[in-house]
Amino acid sequence: CGIVAYLGERLASSVVVKGLKRLEYRGYDSSGVAVMDGGMTVYKKKGKVAELEQLLQNQNLTSHIAIGHTRWATHGEPNDVNAHPHVSNSGRLSLVHNGIIENYASIKQMLISKGYTFSSQTDTEVLVNFIEEVQKAGNYELDEAVRKALKDVVGAYAIVIMDKENPNVLIGARKGSPLVIGLGQNEYFFASDATPIIEYTKEMVYLDDLEVAKVSPEGLEIKNLQNEVSDPQVHTVDLELEAIEKGGFDHFMLKEIFEQPKSISDCLRGRIHPEEAWIKLGGLRDYIGKLANSKRIVFVACGTSWHAGLVGEYLFEELARINVEVEYASEFRYRNPIIREGDIVIAISQSGETADTLAALELAKSKGAIILGVCNVVGSSIARVTHAGVYTHAGPEIGVASTKAFTAQVSVLSLMAIATAHQKGTITEDTFRRLLWELQEMPKKVEMILQKADEIKDISKLFTFASNFIFLGRGLNFPVALEGALKLKEISYIHAEGYPAAEMKHGPIALIDEDMPVVFIATRDSSYEKVVSNIQEVKARKGRVIAIVSAGETEVQKMVDFTIEIPNTHEMLQPLLSVIPLQLLSYYIAVLRGRNVDQPRNLAKSVTVE
Ligand code: G6P
Repeated sequence: CGIVAYLGERLASSVVVKGLKRLEYRGYDSSGVAVMDGGMTVYKKKGKVAELEQLLQNQNLTSHIAIGHTRWATHGEPNDVNAHPHVSNSGRLSLVHNGIIENYASIKQMLISKGYTFSSQTDTEVLVNFIEEVQKAGNYELDEAVRKALKDVVGAYAIVIMDKENPNVLIGARKGSPLVIGLGQNEYFFASDATPIIEYTKEMVYLDDLEVAKVSPEGLEIKNLQNEVSDPQVHTVDLELEAIEKGGFDHFMLKEIFEQPKSISDCLRGRIHPEEAWIKLGGLRDYIGKLANSKRIVFVACGTSWHAGLVGEYLFEELARINVEVEYASEFRYRNPIIREGDIVIAISQSGETADTLAALELAKSKGAIILGVCNVVGSSIARVTHAGVYTHAGPEIGVASTKAFTAQVSVLSLMAIATAHQKGTITEDTFRRLLWELQEMPKKVEMILQKADEIKDISKLFTFASNFIFLGRGLNFPVALEGALKLKEISYIHAEGYPAAEMKHGPIALIDEDMPVVFIATRDSSYEKVVSNIQEVKARKGRVIAIVSAGETEVQKMVDFTIEIPNTHEMLQPLLSVIPLQLLSYYIAVLRGRNVDQPRNLAKSVTVE
């Protein structure tokens, strides 16, 4: 979900609605705003923010204070009633909330026994009434009531709340869900991340867990739940407006796919020097030695970031000879994982806010592990909780389906594995230099693949109406097959599975007939011959094969229906190239099917609930 709130001299409702549009990638089931216009009025609408905007058009709003929300449903289906903001029974308080209140059922029972009634199924409506009850019982100022109430709340939240009796005050609080405060000239913003704020100010304060912020014409005050004042740390955010706009592309996803030559070179900039043969990861200065000495590395991540972790497994194992495990963060956190001395746990997360990944890291930290982060969003929760880390510097990723963040994550993991292997002496000086050269060449080679976009679009036309897809690869291209399948299902809603090519014989082969498209990643690497045999097995059963092959390939070309050539590189870096045609293939298929590729149904970009 996404939160935006405003207090200042501008027209609050329009600042908030514009902000919600920029946050729509975080959720888009329904949206709403509450404005203080004499009284307090709430407008809510199922569906996209544009629907809310339309509703507000003829309302003649003049308010200078407002809160808003765009929702990704957790409790209760997406409809007008369950949309935020939620208002307390007396009509005094309105609240927007991102997260989950775990003990909402018991609080709700207590409130019902006191005569409160509820019109939605949301935990948020419980929270706003609970704060009202605490406020009423103790006759507290709003900020004090919020602090007292939150002491009894179990769960994760970022909230912003408005009080009809104090129409010049906004209160925000967080635990486990992000909330940023923007500081302008006589104006204040709250938002889930910096994107809705940067067109007004670059000065931001990141609220910490269990802190409550109060903004009013008197200024900003931050206290913890124990009522102790803390000094706001003001960060100047280095983000340009154009980075979060489409810049002439039809979709953010396409823009982000085409940005990859730049995002990969931004990621590598200042970190490698092939001529002088050095690699430098400033964020890991004191940790490459620890990685080199580590007994085991555990990657924790979700979604596409988990696939990057699988690539990391091959890289660290092959180059640095370290035992690696890759865990779904959501599974890891609820087991009793064994952490031994010398284990290093590395979280991979574009947003740096994924609730499961954050919790997995905190668990590993509590068991004594060194925890590192590979994050894209600077200042995000994961980046702040880790001992050290490397930013991917891919720039803001808005399309829900991750593309440039993935290639940047894989670039960073390659750098980390190469640096570790070099330090450890598990690769020769020659291999070290070759890898650095190949990395340096990567943006150019990605560009060469992007020039084939039209060719890939033509192929996708023939597969637009497929109902299933299989993606197969081996070695480092196995995680790429998983990622190709995920991309396709996320945005086109075609059922797709990724498999290690040889494992196909143990199940998926039963699905193959003349209607089944199979995408093979068959680049010239150590498993090439084996993959060619797997292709023959599919062709023998009349499957329709699209193969991603290395430049100059002729053998596979004769066997399959379509080939897409990609440049050669070092085998260890192949995923950075082989994933690109798969991103384009799913993009074009989804567009041809008329899907909303930037905001696929039921998904959200940043999953801050578990
Ligand atoms: C969501 C997004 C995916 C992303 C995953 C992990 O499911 O839709 O694109 O890969 O979360 O997100 P993170 O921000 O931790 O990389």
